[in-house]
This record gives sequence, C-alpha cells and structure tokens, in this order.
Amino acid sequence: MKTEPTSLNQLLLQWYDENHRVLPWRENPTLYRTVVSEFMLQQTQVKTMLPYFDRWMAIFPDFETLAAAEEAAVVKLWEGLGYYRRVRFLRKLAQQWVAADPKPTTYDEWLQYPGVGPYIAAAIASIDFEQPVAVVDGNVVRVISRLRKIDKAFGTASAATNEVRPFAQELISDLRPGDFNQAMMELGATLCSPQSPQCMLCPWFEHCESRMDGCADQIPNIRKVKTERIKIPRLLSIDTKSKRILLQEGGLEGRLDGIYELPPLAGEIPSSWAAIATIKRGISNQIITEPIYAVNASDSLSWVHKKTEPEWIPLKNVEMVSLSGPHRKWLSGFLASNEDSY
Ligand code: ADE
Repeated sequence: MKTEPTSLNQLLLQWYDENHRVLPWRENPTLYRTVVSEFMLQQTQVKTMLPYFDRWMAIFPDFETLAAAEEAAVVKLWEGLGYYRRVRFLRKLAQQWVAADPKPTTYDEWLQYPGVGPYIAAAIASIDFEQPVAVVDGNVVRVISRLRKIDKAFGTASAATNEVRPFAQELISDLRPGDFNQAMMELGATLCSPQSPQCMLCPWFEHCESRMDGCADQIPNIRKVKTERIKIPRLLSIDTKSKRILLQEGGLEGRLDGIYELPPLAGEIPSSWAAIATIKRGISNQIITEPIYAVNASDSLSWVHKKTEPEWIPLKNVEMVSLSGPHRKWLSGFLASNEDSY
C-alpha cells in the first residue's frame, strides 16, 4: 500500500506531540543545547546521559564558556560517558563556532565542524534551522526498514543506513522537520524496539508493511559484528609511604587521551600471582576482562607497559584526574573499603 508521505508525516507528529519524553533540550531548545545533547547521545542512551547534560549546562552554559575552557576540564566533566573523542571535538567545535563569521546555518556548513557527521549535521539543521534533512541513526534504520519492509540482508550497519536514507528523506517535509526527526528517533527508542515492537501503540500501525506481514521483529536484517573477547591485566600499585598510586594516561589504543587508568601489565604474569579483582567492561564490539594484580610500589615500574609514561598520582588527587568509567567505579570502591590502609 502506498501512503502519501504527508499523512505518514502528520500521524507521526501527532503521536510525538502526545507521547514524547520530556527532555531538557526539547523543553528549552537553543542551538547550543542541541549540539551538546546530540554529541552526548551519539553513542549513549538518554537515561545515561541526562545527569551529564544538566551538569554540563551548569558549568558550560554556552559556546563561549566551552571554547574558553581547558581541555582537561571538559574531559573531566565527560568522565564515565566514554568515547572521549566526542568531547575534545565538541570543545574544538565551540572554538570554531565562536570564531566563525558568519555563523554556520546549513547542513553542509555544519558538516565541516569537528566531530559532526551526517547524523549530527542533520539533527542540527532540522532542529535549529528548520531544514528538512533526515536523521538516519540505528533507530531510524529500524523504523523505516520495518515500515517499508526492507528485508534484505545487510553486511554492515552503514550499508543499511545508506539504503534507508532516501526513504527517510522522502518522508520528512517542511512541516516541523526537527520534531519529525526527533519523533523518528523517539519511535525507534520507545515503541519500535529491536526485539518486541509494540505495534498496537504505533501511529503507523495501519501503514507498516512488515507489521502487516507479521515480520517486524525480524527486520532489519543486519549482520552482527562478532564480539571480540580480550584480556588486559592491570596493575594496582600504591606507595603507602608517599600515599600515591601509579596511574597511566592514554590507554593502549590511543582512544583515551587525557583519561587515566590503572596501568596495563607488560610481559608474562608469574604463575604465582593471583588477581585481587577482575573488572569487566564492554566497548563497541569488545568484551574486555581486566584482572587486577597488586604489586609493590618498588617493583611496579618494571611491570608497566610503557606505551605512555606512568605517573605517581597522590591519592588525595585521584578524585580530580579523569579516570575511565569502569576504573573510577572499581577504584573508588576499593579505596573506600581500604580507607584504613592508606
Ligand atoms: N538520539 C539522538 N538524538 C536524539 C533526540 N534528539 N531525541 C531522541 N533520541 C535521540
């Protein structure tokens, strides 16, 4: 069945008006709030980023404040959100925006900004400049491929995105394009869920081709990226005399610039060593297991992987440096329960 885009569009907007989640950047929209929220939401779910958004706005309320901030300060405020390249790009974006004259107003101009890809550029262009450019994220791919029963097998998520984009673009119009994009994402994040879509509540119930064929939960068909399991042994070394802990900045793959962690161990671990704890974490398609070995301060430097220079950080300053989320959580718990020893 072919439905005019305008009627699909209006059904969706009506559903959005009645059902959307109340979120701070929607209630009180400004360009800056859109940019910050979309950067935070790029790899992170709404419920995780909400407290970060409020804290961020209290400390960096506008482009000018952010542009003038130290990189370490912005990274610290992002601590625990992960994918830290985003926050360094966001600060650079603010600097570029403050210096720009005239200011960017179109999709193509925003695409030139640091950290801005097609998805964020479309969100900004539509929400803040009323341009009808469709946002296509994972949620939108799911919604559209179900609506249009695009059931072919995709080798990658980006192949699915490219296939879906023209369909999404055909649906968006000059009528509230920003709300339309947010409504698409909202539908994907709430009703049109991966495993058990709630079709009975969907504004497109009568128009969804895969719902009619009873196959919505099998679409889209995107090949799963194989998860990789890796092990990174870590070292806990605290010099009780000087009350300092050995930490290392930068991570093994360079995606943690400015972020400290317990240092990775180099070389073979003696069979007599026993881990005092194990941290489990996930990033992208990796499941990472990190056994932690306590090592005497006098020996520790010989065990450290020298990717970057390890640093002895006073325990009283540990709160002030940026630690990766999993290491912050583990170390805070460990230090709190061993308060008397240090
Ligand atoms: N995910 C990314 N941006 C979003 C937005 N503006 N609303 C809902 N979900 C989103």
